[in-house]
Amino acid sequence: MGSLAEVRENPSGLKGSAEGDPGRGSTPAVSPFQLCLVRVSLAVMGPEAPLAGWVRASTRPRLTDSSAFRAKQEPEAKVAKLNVNGRVVEIQVEDDTPLLWVLREQLGLTGTKYGCGVAQCGACTVHVDGAAVRACAMPVSAFTEGQKITTIEGLSPDSSHPIQQAWLALDVPQCGFCQPGMIMAASALLAAHPKPTEAQIREEMTNICRCGTYNRVIAGIQRAAGISTSG
Ligand code: FES
Ligand code: FES
Repeated sequence: MGSLAEVRENPSGLKGSAEGDPGRGSTPAVSPFQLCLVRVSLAVMGPEAPLAGWVRASTRPRLTDSSAFRAKQEPEAKVAKLNVNGRVVEIQVEDDTPLLWVLREQLGLTGTKYGCGVAQCGACTVHVDGAAVRACAMPVSAFTEGQKITTIEGLSPDSSHPIQQAWLALDVPQCGFCQPGMIMAASALLAAHPKPTEAQIREEMTNICRCGTYNRVIAGIQRAAGISTSG
């Protein structure tokens, strides 16, 4: 698999056919969560881009079963070194295993969530050298030991990041499933734009929340940025 830049060009990070690759199915299964994502996209953002993007994504080969990666791990695994939350870890893994599975299943960092598996919902957002990246679409071979990967567990040692404080103050989460990804995306946004406008927030925050917490997410980012809101 190629470099980080190549993967950004092809954010699904998926290649090859489903044949002989038990980690991918040729027929995309439509889960209730995905249907929910489409409904939320339509309700919040209209009939244009989100649905079109989702439909395109849903016809690609997709991740279906992380256990398949575990099953294949023994004969073809290679040693890889990753810098995760300030610690260099050595893992045995196939090159095309998504970073998300490594984080959740090999390192036990389950704060990063699996939503769509095709780089659309943002539930799996982590930071790579401070930038928001969707870990479900990034093969582990795209990373070097020199790149700093940060998960929600490593965002701050005591949950005191301004975004986390604002989230607590405003009770941003509802069910909470999307919120680790939201927080990671929001903190990356704030690092790049310390005083974002509402328009910037709306444009940059493309994570999907099936509970519809979008207005509180915007207010939380504004609070963390020290921007007063009108209501
Ligand atoms: S799980 Fe949806 S973007 Fe990664
Ligand atoms: S999906 Fe429930 S809070 Fe976002």
